[in-house]
Amino acid sequence: MAHRLKWHLLKKGVPTMKQSAMIKLLAGSLLLAISSIAQAQAGGDAAAGKQKASMCAGCHAIEGYRTAFPKVYHVPKLKGQHGEYMLKALEGYKDGSRSHPSMNAIAVTLTAQDMKDLVAYYTSGGK
Ligand code: HEC
Repeated sequence: MAHRLKWHLLKKGVPTMKQSAMIKLLAGSLLLAISSIAQAQAGGDAAAGKQKASMCAGCHAIEGYRTAFPKVYHVPKLKGQHGEYMLKALEGYKDGSRSHPSMNAIAVTLTAQDMKDLVAYYTSGGK
């Protein structure tokens, strides 16, 4: 009985061809997922940024636009801004070191990745 059980375990422990192919496939897709995460962390994803920019366009996409609330403010253009500067500005609005009510409210909702994606979008020709 004990012998039979051992044999059974041994048989189960050796992956069949089909199983090892599956394992390779799984390992491969895991690697792919990891490398795409690494890529996203290294820089921003302009395509993702474009989607996120829809919440900025209401104010920033209009040339010469001035917000009427809470005061009349000129809204700077984001297209063509320097990436490093833009990222710093967004981080500043988020942590409060730079203050403006509209931008503070927006920036607190952004993650570090959102900011990078947005910067990638705006520095790659997005408006
Ligand atoms: C409600 C209107 C409004 C929305 C929505 C908005 N912004 Fe702004 N943003 C402003 C205004 C007004 C300023 C100028 C604030 C100041 O003078 O400090 C500004 C400033 C900035 C600046 C600094 C620019 C500079 O030249 O100093 C950046 C960067 C920025 N916004 C990015 C964004 C991004 C990215 C989004 C979307 C996630 C966004 N904003 C959404 C109104 C808005």
